Amino acid sequence: MQKALQGKGLTWAIVLEASGEFVGTCGYENFVIGQSGEIGFDLAKLHWGHGYMSEALGVVIPYGFTVLDLFTIEAHTYSSNARARRLLEKLGFTIAAVTEDLHCYMLARENWPYAHP
Ligand SMILES: CC(C)(COP(=O)(O)OP(=O)(O)OC[C@H]1O[C@@H](n2cnc3c(N)ncnc32)[C@H](O)[C@@H]1OP(=O)(O)O)[C@@H](O)C(=O)NCCC(=O)NCCS
Repeated sequence: MQKALQGKGLTWAIVLEASGEFVGTCGYENFVIGQSGEIGFDLAKLHWGHGYMSEALGVVIPYGFTVLDLFTIEAHTYSSNARARRLLEKLGFTIAAVTEDLHCYMLARENWPYAHP
């Protein structure tokens, strides 16, 4: 990963293996190698409830902790976004701050279960 890429987004397309259908995106909206990054994710509504984003973020998060050498990963979501909040909490993110309508989540590398089996 070249330092020149810092400050730019890094987005993956999510494609169903069986059909090749493009169903969503996920990745780092911004990051600083060796420090922190912020993830974003978006799945077509038709494909909610199948675990696709859990599986995708299960790859994107360790990529951040290993290839990008991040110490912390953040995610910001509307407080009313129950699905996004449930997903983040299942992945081990904890609430770092709450504003009027946003929940800010954080995951530290030492708390990522798959980084230290
Ligand atoms: C946030 C978002 C990605 C969550 O989608 P999702 O489908 O709930 O999340 P997943 O793909 O991980 O699926 C999890 C659901 O699938 C179910 N599931 C079914 N099979 C599964 C499997 N094999 N593995 C894991 N979960 C599975 C889970 O039980 C869970 O359902 P539940 O939430 O009703 O308990 C989606 O709502 C979205 O794209 N929203 C619009 C964009 C957005 O809000 N982005 C966040 C901005 S920060």
